[in-house]
Amino acid sequence: MSKKTVLVTGGAGYIGSHTIIELLNHGGYEVISADNFFTSSPKSYDQVEMITGKKFKHYKLDLCDILEFDKIFSDHDIAGVIHFAAFKAVGESVELPLKYYHNNIASLVNVLELCRKHKTSNVIFSSSCSVYGNIEKLPVDENTPLPKAESPYAYTKQIGEVMLQDFCKRYLDFSAISLRYFNPVGAHDSGKIGEWPNNKPNNLVPLITGTAIGKYPQLTVFGGDYPTRDGTNVRDYIHVSDIADAHVKALNFLFTGKNKTNYDVYNLGSGNGVSVLEAIAAFEKISGKKLNYKIGDRRAGDVVSVYSDSTKAESVLGWKCKHDIKSMMKTAWEWELYREKEKF
Ligand code: WQD
Repeated sequence: MSKKTVLVTGGAGYIGSHTIIELLNHGGYEVISADNFFTSSPKSYDQVEMITGKKFKHYKLDLCDILEFDKIFSDHDIAGVIHFAAFKAVGESVELPLKYYHNNIASLVNVLELCRKHKTSNVIFSSSCSVYGNIEKLPVDENTPLPKAESPYAYTKQIGEVMLQDFCKRYLDFSAISLRYFNPVGAHDSGKIGEWPNNKPNNLVPLITGTAIGKYPQLTVFGGDYPTRDGTNVRDYIHVSDIADAHVKALNFLFTGKNKTNYDVYNLGSGNGVSVLEAIAAFEKISGKKLNYKIGDRRAGDVVSVYSDSTKAESVLGWKCKHDIKSMMKTAWEWELYREKEKF
């Protein structure tokens, strides 16, 4: 039987590239990627092909350009879409809200329009734990009522989930899953691909490894006076390869038709809350490097503490977290060292 073709939008990105590796190595799918390289590099594709030994088609494309985007659906029989493409920096979204609303919402509208037009009936949507905002009762599970989002980025994810819910209510022959990632960190076990931002990253772990290797003079911990065990924000860090594995399992689940509803939502977290200072300490232990950091002002849009109850993904999708914080820091550091050696 011929392989199903899966379109990965944002496939040159951090989670997208790691998911393509899993789709090629363990999913048995043909893969097509579409990416505009605004926040990623086509060099990621070379690394994916080196790691998997497999080639795949990819297109440079802005998903907000529906005429160009339509050509991909016309040229390929796409059985499913994994939609990663979006801007994702919480702090930046507070500074540039329209950039986030336009890009993140319009691109999802186009994905759904084209799926409808070309009878592609399965979509996995890259959502985020940021939809939970500042939640009192932790850990959060999927039934937690969603509060007002703390940032425009988080709001684009809440809106995206509602769009999918409405679309699935209207078109019963269409199925979708929203995966709410907690904090994706770390790098592929091969050490040959990881988080590869085009310019200075906004998020913690690549800033830790970049500071440790000397790219940045000092890390600022955004706030040391939060109501947490050590005064710094708590997050549920999860290895990027565990996130990637969940996408393959979610897509397989939809293709088997075992889903009892045509829209559902799953948390993807480790279930462990780790503070910023604890993340730094874990890195220092793994790398043997003392990190140069200072405690600075709070960052707008940050939630105080969030971590997951991901038992639903475990019981329904058969997914389980395999990496702990040590492995996350070890692989992130190995990737940073590889980038320095390869002058990436
Ligand atoms: C983590 C903690 C910062 C940088 C991320 C993604 C978002 C979404 C959710 C997937 C916070 C602190 C950071 C620094 C710091 N993921 N920090 N100094 O904001 O939780 O959101 O996960 O959808 O796309 O961005 O992650 O890594 O930016 O911050 O102290 O220089 O680290 O304040 O407490 P965040 P982050």
